Amino acid sequence: MVTCLIGLGSNQGDRVGNLLAAIAALGEDPAISLQAVSSFVESAPVGGPAGQPNFFNGAAILATSLPAQALLTRLLDIELRLGRVRGERFGPRTIDLDLLLYGEQVIESPTLQVPHPRLRVRRFVLAPAAEIAGEMLVPALTDAEQRVSIETLCARLPDPAPSELGLRVIMSAAAMQRHVREIQLSGRRVGVVPTMGALHSGHLSLVQEARRRSDYVVATIFVNPTQFAPHEDFTKYPRTLDADLSALSAAGCQAAFVPSAEEMYPRGATTTVDPPEVALPLEGVCRPGHFRGVATIVLKLFHLIPAEVACFGQKDFQQALVIRRMVADLNVPIEVVVCPTVREADGLALSSRNRYLSAAERERALALSRALRQAEQSIQAGETESNRIVSAMRETLAAAGITSIDYVALADPETLAECSHVEGKTVALIACRVGSTRLIDNCLLDPTIDAGSAKRGAVRA
Ligand code: PAJ
Repeated sequence: MVTCLIGLGSNQGDRVGNLLAAIAALGEDPAISLQAVSSFVESAPVGGPAGQPNFFNGAAILATSLPAQALLTRLLDIELRLGRVRGERFGPRTIDLDLLLYGEQVIESPTLQVPHPRLRVRRFVLAPAAEIAGEMLVPALTDAEQRVSIETLCARLPDPAPSELGLRVIMSAAAMQRHVREIQLSGRRVGVVPTMGALHSGHLSLVQEARRRSDYVVATIFVNPTQFAPHEDFTKYPRTLDADLSALSAAGCQAAFVPSAEEMYPRGATTTVDPPEVALPLEGVCRPGHFRGVATIVLKLFHLIPAEVACFGQKDFQQALVIRRMVADLNVPIEVVVCPTVREADGLALSSRNRYLSAAERERALALSRALRQAEQSIQAGETESNRIVSAMRETLAAAGITSIDYVALADPETLAECSHVEGKTVALIACRVGSTRLIDNCLLDPTIDAGSAKRGAVRA
């Protein structure tokens, strides 16, 4: 068996999906045994037509009994199967597989040169390769007269354009932990933004806040199966990975953790976090088990990414309380920051689930923010009876044709105990179905603030 190093790149279609498909195809080949896969780094295209998308590049180590030329043929086969069309040099490509090293052999044939001639001069090839193949690369990168480390070699390359190495996409839990440790050892503060993908400006506002509060932002994208009940929308939850990665990169996020379900939940995993009491009412009644799933996955993410600060949205008000309480109760050394809800111009709170709504349903969904705004106005006008405020909110929902209401509640913003009178700070919360889409929204109310003064948490249309 010969140990080989392969380079992978894609800048067309579902880029990370293409890299993962190529790795899966390599793994399925009986003559190939996959040993290690790097994370993927984003880089600006070198040459080729203007305006083509950035690449994601990775590296893999494999052991094979195939001769070098036969291995190259397998790589070309996989490229074809994954839709590679050979067009202009440096043009966009769904997948590009390069044989970088074949053991320590030097091959100079018309069809194959190993070590790959550009191995030494491309940071986007060296960076992922160095992550998994440091030792293996040393002979190939050693000058005749002196031994040169990969770091030295990288340092000798001309300065990259700022975008040459962009977002890093990490799939493995162990690699994620290692990477965060390296960042922190270099003295940088890490911020984490957990998400389930299908990103919108609400998620990106959390990335912005994390950037303000840290030096290195990791967003996580994982549709967590354990927080969905069997009848809920886990399988149809929107998955838009390529667009999400472009958005994170443009927002200045440095890394995305995109684990598989197997990576997050090792076979036979049964340990869970028993969520705090604040998980019991409201969502806790309507979605039994939901917060157990959320608390468990968030704690696991915090172990893998022991950031200094984590950003969550007020949009999921009860979730933010559950996480704050869990972090305090379990001595997790992470500062939890809760950021304001981002809304459309007409008041609709941004949500990944909004894309399920038809145009007519979207119109009806505006009743949620309208009802919250009315509650705000009525307490500013002196109303203190919760019953009356809640009834008016329900009427507003009903008038828009929303009849499937899980709850409309006025509650203490710390404990979520429902209050009969609005005296101090209060949160108004709604959960209801518009068509078959379940939507939630909330607003912080403060009867001590005058109608005219500016407030955080206000629902503006
Ligand atoms: P997800 O629904 O993707 O939301 C990720 C984060 O974005 C949460 O903190 C959520 O409150 C925040 N967010 C959503 N819509 C927002 C908006 N309009 N304005 C501001 N922030 C908004 O919440 C989850 O994922 C999951 O439960 C998770 C915490 C990732 C655990 O799986």
